[in-house]
Amino acid sequence: MTDGVQELLLSRIRDVPDYPKPGVVFKDITPLLADPKAFTALTDVLAEGCARHGATKVVGLEARGFILGAPVAVRAGLGFIPVRKAGKLPGATLSQAYELEYGSAEIEVHAEDLQTGDRVMVIDDVLATGGTAGAAVELIRRSGAEVAGIAVLMELGFLGGRARLEPALRGAPLESL
Ligand code: PRP
Repeated sequence: MTDGVQELLLSRIRDVPDYPKPGVVFKDITPLLADPKAFTALTDVLAEGCARHGATKVVGLEARGFILGAPVAVRAGLGFIPVRKAGKLPGATLSQAYELEYGSAEIEVHAEDLQTGDRVMVIDDVLATGGTAGAAVELIRRSGAEVAGIAVLMELGFLGGRARLEPALRGAPLESL
């Protein structure tokens, strides 16, 4: 990715102070999505990562990972697989629970969508604590598929998600733009 593209992407991410609660600075990607030049550049960079890492499928993590992952899959010529919050998929699913700061959450994928031999690129907007991405990695491995990599637009380094995730990655790349 060139410096120009990185600057363009950065310039289209809006900091929203005190959202969703006081003291939190929310990273709003809607200005990026609304700018066709920036959204196309992001899609191209992520699709190039899919090719570079030999991905055969793209997984998007609900919900903003769907917005980014779907055009990436189309651009890369790969199938798009939604990993959803529990209870949203109609067919037989694999589920994975994970810990939140307070309580727990669960994500699911249609069991038939991932198989042995698949190499899966996981796409999301933000890596924060790494809980969601870690659960996705578990889900993919349990399906028999391999993790080709994880690609996120932003990484909130101060939350330590990368360090928490690294052992589970077993060498698969974690790329943040
Ligand atoms: C956000 C973000 C990532 C996740 C990152 O999703 O889009 O999926 O949190 O946090 P973590 O690294 O601590 O797991 P959120 O659950 O807020 O859902 P949304 O995309 O549906 O808004």
